[in-house]
Amino acid sequence: MADQSITITDNRTGASYTLPLIDGAVDATLLERIHGLEADHGVFSLDPALENTAVARSTITYIDGDRGILRYRGYNIEDLAKRGDFLEVAYLVLYGELPSASQLEAWIYDIKHHTMVHENVKQFIEGFRHDAHPMPMLVSSLAALATFYPDSREVTDPAVRDLQIRRSIAKVPTLAAYAYRHSQGLFYVYPDNDLSFAANFLTMLWKRVEPRYAPNPVLERALNTLFILHMDHEQNCGTYAMRVAGSSLADPYSCLAAASAALSGPLHGGANEAVLRMLTSIGSKARVPEFVRSVIEGHGRLMGFGHRVYKNYDPRARIIKELADEVFAVTGTNPLLEIALELEHIALSDEYFISRKLYPNVDFYSGLIYQSMGFPIDMFPVLFAIPRTVGWLAHWNEMLSDPHHRIVRPRQVYEGVGERPFVPLERRG
Ligand code: CMC
Repeated sequence: MADQSITITDNRTGASYTLPLIDGAVDATLLERIHGLEADHGVFSLDPALENTAVARSTITYIDGDRGILRYRGYNIEDLAKRGDFLEVAYLVLYGELPSASQLEAWIYDIKHHTMVHENVKQFIEGFRHDAHPMPMLVSSLAALATFYPDSREVTDPAVRDLQIRRSIAKVPTLAAYAYRHSQGLFYVYPDNDLSFAANFLTMLWKRVEPRYAPNPVLERALNTLFILHMDHEQNCGTYAMRVAGSSLADPYSCLAAASAALSGPLHGGANEAVLRMLTSIGSKARVPEFVRSVIEGHGRLMGFGHRVYKNYDPRARIIKELADEVFAVTGTNPLLEIALELEHIALSDEYFISRKLYPNVDFYSGLIYQSMGFPIDMFPVLFAIPRTVGWLAHWNEMLSDPHHRIVRPRQVYEGVGERPFVPLERRG
């Protein structure tokens, strides 16, 4: 095998440095050894958007962005989406292996016995305005969970971490449902532990006066699949926010609030909401060419298109597109679908999108399904956050299980003015 190292020549001094490659990556801390002629701090790597910087060694999720491959713990997303149950796949993502029958039974039992939230949660949800967006409600109530579980601060204890993992996965749907019911002026529905993860969530959202709400099995299955597809995506913006907050040994609820805040933006998990607003504003198939032209001329972005890592069709988008047919067979076709299909058709044959390798991502079609299932548009990012909680916790636990874990503390290239004397107020211009 060829020598696994690279040699860098510093043209300021003529000195050469040989740096080892670890699985194709160079240890950026070693760049510090490269010094110019004057005493300096050595060379930094500058990568503000972390485009070409690996921030972790992880065993959870594999992505090949050029070939459109996504795997959790080695299993292809297509297989997991088709055959997996949400809690079964969550176990896989968290613990590395699919559970045995007894492990799965114990895991489901544990999750179901943590779905309730303290009654005081209702009171602070009541404090939000009637028209509050559910995503900031979720972000705030996630952070507030830390006040109910002071034990969660002992994050260096693996057993404590494991308990918070179970609590968080179980309670996030309950918090999300409470946020939704508050925005509708409806009473809160307690979890029903006889139901699947997806069916329980649908029940907490939609139940009215019937003794037991019965979700449509096709829609329950569709939500289960969507939740699996959104469960993890290695080092994205939200997951890295989780890692950054967690690296200071903050409690996991505060970290989940940080991660979900990062997710909420329109360039990330808020894109599903933005796609639906975009399709609605385009209004008709006939107006698609005009809209695409305006994007190419630099007026806004085609939301739900493009990805930092995928330079091919996002495999999740492909599965969601197929799933849409099953959902629409129950709900009726979403009238915005034809606009979405026309957008995809025009964009995928246009040089602007081809040359930049911009393809539909996970958010392009998911919103159409969510809307047809009856979710209001501003619930879409919340629907992303519920399953992504599993991924966030898996990465958080992986990071804290590493005995060499250290706080994240990046550097900067200072570009401001040099030292200068303080100017008293009366002498300022
Ligand atoms: N529409 C039009 N042009 C685009 C788009 C788009 N959606 N995405 C990227 N571009 C162009 C961009 O203008 C730039 O062109 P140029 O080289 O001429 O300046 C080029 O493509 C590269 O874009 P970039 O902003 O450097 O790419 P990035 O890797 O920093 O951003 C992205 C990735 C996902 C933020 C971006 O593609 C985007 O804004 N997409 C729309 C929002 C979206 O759908 N987000 C969901 C992402 S998937 C799920 C998730 O992460 O949660």
